[in-house]
Amino acid sequence: MTKSVEPTSEAARPGLFVSFEGGEGAGKSTQIRRLADILRKRGHQVLITREPGGSAGAEAVRHVLLSGAAEAYGVRMEALLFAAARNDHVEEVIRPALLRGMIVLCDRFIDSSRVYQGITGNLESAFIEALERIAIDGLKPDLTLILDLPAEKGLARAQRRSAESGSTAAPDRFEKETVDVHEMRRQAFLDIAAGDEVRCRVIDADRIEAIVAADILSQVEPMLPLVAEPADALEKAR
Ligand code: TYD
Repeated sequence: MTKSVEPTSEAARPGLFVSFEGGEGAGKSTQIRRLADILRKRGHQVLITREPGGSAGAEAVRHVLLSGAAEAYGVRMEALLFAAARNDHVEEVIRPALLRGMIVLCDRFIDSSRVYQGITGNLESAFIEALERIAIDGLKPDLTLILDLPAEKGLARAQRRSAESGSTAAPDRFEKETVDVHEMRRQAFLDIAAGDEVRCRVIDADRIEAIVAADILSQVEPMLPLVAEPADALEKAR
């Protein structure tokens, strides 16, 4: 499906901001690495980053969130911590990289909070929206790729991955939940995509890796002319 692609945010902002979303085991990090390799070979400056985390302050909060240490204090507390981490990440890492004309590939961003805390965490949308506004201060992704596959398959992949890596770590706070909850999240991501077709694309992740990678590249390629040359970007940032 080919669509005309318009920049979703301020056309004047240099760089290109692409977020990757989806359930557990959807293959986001593998696909981000593959895309980054291709873009770098074409001469682009690429930053790979992730949430929760991606900046020193946010990485400090990551462990608290994923270990489940914050769970006892309720979903509002968790949502606030995700937002605090996001704000640090945006202001310390993402915005400066974009101003330098980089392509930023981010593993999870605002839609994960909308889905995990908002939909399956049952937080009221006004609260989530307020946190989002404060956390990102206008910095929305130009493109969001939602990697979609049945929850059961994603969870099986995630378990295989941790077995293969020899990890004895227990599933994190969010992986532990039931298949129904994961399936609800899948639907919530699809609903976000349906409600924002300019920013979001759904990628069928239930295919072999190379095919998914080609699909992703075909979604990103039309946006590459929007990436300002670094020199240009610096000029605009002055
Ligand atoms: P992580 O180990 O980074 O892995 P993956 O992206 O491969 O699942 O786990 C991040 C977890 O945090 C994941 O279960 C989703 C959750 N999360 C939220 O609940 N809200 C958020 O805003 C973000 C960014 C992540």
